[in-house]
Amino acid sequence: MTNPVNVIESVKLDDEENTLVILDQTALPNHKNFLRLMTVEQVWDAIYHLKVRGAPAIGIAAAYGVYLATKISVASTTEELYETFKRHKEYLASSRPTAVNLFWALDRMENRFLKEKLKNPEQVKAALKEEAELIKQEDEAICESIGKHALTLLEPGWGLLTHCNAGTIATAKYGTALAPIYLGQEQGYNFKVFADETRPLLQGARLTAWELNEAGIDVTLICDNMASIVMQQGKVQAVLVGCDRVAANGDTANKIGTSGVAILAKHYGIPFYVCAPLSTIDLESKTGKDIEIEERPSEEITSTWYTEPMAPTDVKTYNPAFDVTDHSLITAIVTEKGIVYPNYETKLQELFTEESS
Ligand code: MRU
Repeated sequence: MTNPVNVIESVKLDDEENTLVILDQTALPNHKNFLRLMTVEQVWDAIYHLKVRGAPAIGIAAAYGVYLATKISVASTTEELYETFKRHKEYLASSRPTAVNLFWALDRMENRFLKEKLKNPEQVKAALKEEAELIKQEDEAICESIGKHALTLLEPGWGLLTHCNAGTIATAKYGTALAPIYLGQEQGYNFKVFADETRPLLQGARLTAWELNEAGIDVTLICDNMASIVMQQGKVQAVLVGCDRVAANGDTANKIGTSGVAILAKHYGIPFYVCAPLSTIDLESKTGKDIEIEERPSEEITSTWYTEPMAPTDVKTYNPAFDVTDHSLITAIVTEKGIVYPNYETKLQELFTEESS
């Protein structure tokens, strides 16, 4: 069977035109629009408005964004160029607070700059381009590896539930939580996937249902409040989710509603797996309490997606974009280096010790 992964590249560099090309995820599933971003403000806006979204894709877009903004600088010395770089880096870092991949990718770009600081501006720019391309290429291999490890936890014919979109368009390719589903499809696993619609921005309905459907995978869209009934009816054998930041103790921030799904899974005795590249693990955040949770505008709840407002226009709203799933609810965290079981405190730390040795 051919590789079923949708080969749409959601983030791509057009270096000749000094442009970042992104698939506008806010227009899906009705329109496959590609946006051409030429300024750092446009990249910031695309990240803030979720035109490019999903933790790894945000990191890739930011890396290209800071490269392009630095590339068009007319700075005549490397010191001056560094000032420009720092300004753009800080600006892009202010676009969204929760996905640690954003900061991870921007820090990696800065480290590369500093490694090349004795070179001239043109050489530094070339190195920044190389680093941004590497971040993207590595992400593809990392996601494939996460998929291979996660697939060992699953059996043919299983019902799987996922929340939000941790698929190919949220990464360079394959996705994180959806990677084992794509790899399983290639091997005839015939999974039956339940996609939570994921209120309020409907990433499950608009993106996960769309990309799995396009790939010929058996996907059933459900509203968020239907997760319990499908679990109760025995239709779900495992939950797979992606994440935006994993704290040192295994507490995990992911799209709002994820912690509720984890509580349900525990109740019904269903394994709950978090799929995460090492770039999403943040040992600086000791627990979930250290993770900043993004709050977004009220219209996302009251009127976005509706032809008329669906709530009193002056009603108070609270719109946290993420929640934290307590580590005690997570059966395992699947990384590119393998499957991590509790005790997360020591096991996650060990992943990084192995990395640096
Ligand atoms: O607000 P979003 O759509 O960027 O939130 C994305 C998620 O919560 C994803 O599950 C997460 O980033 C993992 S993407 C592989």
